Amino acid sequence: MCGIVGILGKNPVALDVVEALRRLEYRGYDSAGVATLENGKLTRCRAEGKLRNLETKLSKEPLSGLIGIGHTRWATHGRPSVSNAHPHATDKLAVVHNGIIENFAEFRAELEADGFRFESETDTEVVAHLVTREMNRGLKPVEAVGAILPKLRGAFALAFLFSGEEDLLIGARNGPPLAVGIGDGEMYLGSDAFALAPFTTMIAYLEDGDWAILHRNSVEFRNVDGQVVNRQAQMVAAGAALVDKGNHRHFMAKEIHEQPEVVTHTLTTYIDMVSRKVRMPFSETLDWSKVDRLTMSACGTAYLAGLTARYWFESLARLPVEIDVASEFRYREPPMPASNGVAMFLSQSGETADTLASLRYAKSQNQTILSVVNVPTSTIARESHIVAPITAGPEIGVASTKAFSCKLVTLASLAIAAGRMRGVIDEAREAELVQELIMLPGLMTQALKTEVDISRLAQRLGKAKDVLYIGRGTSFPLALEGALKLKELSYIHAEGYAAGELKHGPIALIDEDMPVIVVAPHDHLFEKTASNMHEVAARGGRIILITDEKGASEISIKPDSTIIMPTMPSTFTAMVYAIPVQLIAYHTALGMGKDVDQPRNLAKSVTVE
Ligand code: F6R
Repeated sequence: MCGIVGILGKNPVALDVVEALRRLEYRGYDSAGVATLENGKLTRCRAEGKLRNLETKLSKEPLSGLIGIGHTRWATHGRPSVSNAHPHATDKLAVVHNGIIENFAEFRAELEADGFRFESETDTEVVAHLVTREMNRGLKPVEAVGAILPKLRGAFALAFLFSGEEDLLIGARNGPPLAVGIGDGEMYLGSDAFALAPFTTMIAYLEDGDWAILHRNSVEFRNVDGQVVNRQAQMVAAGAALVDKGNHRHFMAKEIHEQPEVVTHTLTTYIDMVSRKVRMPFSETLDWSKVDRLTMSACGTAYLAGLTARYWFESLARLPVEIDVASEFRYREPPMPASNGVAMFLSQSGETADTLASLRYAKSQNQTILSVVNVPTSTIARESHIVAPITAGPEIGVASTKAFSCKLVTLASLAIAAGRMRGVIDEAREAELVQELIMLPGLMTQALKTEVDISRLAQRLGKAKDVLYIGRGTSFPLALEGALKLKELSYIHAEGYAAGELKHGPIALIDEDMPVIVVAPHDHLFEKTASNMHEVAARGGRIILITDEKGASEISIKPDSTIIMPTMPSTFTAMVYAIPVQLIAYHTALGMGKDVDQPRNLAKSVTVE
């Protein structure tokens, strides 16, 4: 989760770029850098570590120039170092980047074969060389950027500065946010409005797939197809709080949409993108090979993240898992392993009373306490032996969304680490699984494109009295999560069931008024879920199917609606399928005029039992 900035100014910009970076330092501080044009020539200053190191360097070697870009880094590909620090540059251009270019390895090989020399280990540098190659072939900067953007896979925001082009910056967005600030004969790019607040309050946001061509007196937005589009600038209060809604109507919408980016942040904590290995966090204090049983406990959505992860710990690490909601666990007095037991507590806030009480019980039973939390200073974190932070950033919407997916990414990484340490998976399988994790931000960005269809579908769903969600495997906890989200936001009665359980009771509820939302990626359980869909259809139930192209083409009944998801490997579909599940609840509640950020009777941090 890096921060990026660009300024087309009337006065020298280097110090203003640094000022904007200071406001983005919360996004990462492994290194920082600035590039400007001095008499049309690219110059750079980069430093490892915090922004103040860059400032010290700049005070000794100042950069002049009325146009510049800057970056503050949270390392993904390549360790923190000056050579890996952005901006990355060629003789033609400099570029800064936030996110992941998933297909960088294939481009790197191709570019090296073409004679391009790489100076860093980053995925970003391929972007610099790809654009340079197009310019060497005779394309102008705007054409060259337009030619390469469709080739990049993943979730990214980019800003480009070109040698000899004193009045041109280009920004592009596919996933992570990017804002354009409009000044008086000056133009800005930034990862958020807060970064640009010292310079301008007029902000326009790029939408996914957009790119923007900035000159001092104009900005042109183009969409993913290269068509010129209008993106309205709006007034954003100066000094806007660090946590604002961006261009979203609600915090919940913002938090759903920022998942590709925050998940990237979580990934960088737990995996090494270059070696395709999981970092073995806390390997000195926790040897998974010696663990006999993992006990998990949590509440609500956090519990459902744990329920999902049980599948991974069992299949990838062959580790026996027990899991229960904390309000039951704490009073059950469950026997726990006398030695070699690990107890894991999951919580966004880290303050949930029942979860904390369960933790204290497990501690009294001599378990190693591992907490998976979003707030590392919370009570649950403080009382744990080991803390695995999920790094989702502040979650303001009462209904948990991004904390759910960041928990899943953390848990998936821990399950892979456990599998490796227990000798269940080998290095090659680890690399495969890690590659699947690296693909998640890009897939989540694609999944967000289902929003238009979902908002239409939500109009009809808002009229239902009851809704059923079903799924198998990791889609079962997601069915529970879908029902929980719909209940808490729209106040429509909803239930989640394991698809195979339907015939043991709930099928009696099915009639032509009952929407049944089926979460069914085309995985090894798809055929089984398909049979359950037939059972629903035979009783006149209205099916809303969330699946991929293959699933949609194989199902012989005609669902009421089908939400088509990107095709992906089957292990970690839960993170991607969580997005339509969240969007369904959000849009249904919105259509019904409910308060989505603060639903009735609920609180963000439940410190009472
Ligand atoms: C549902 C939701 C709640 C929380 C639960 C636990 O959208 O947000 O179910 O997940 O109250 O809260 P934490 O994770 O703070 O322990």
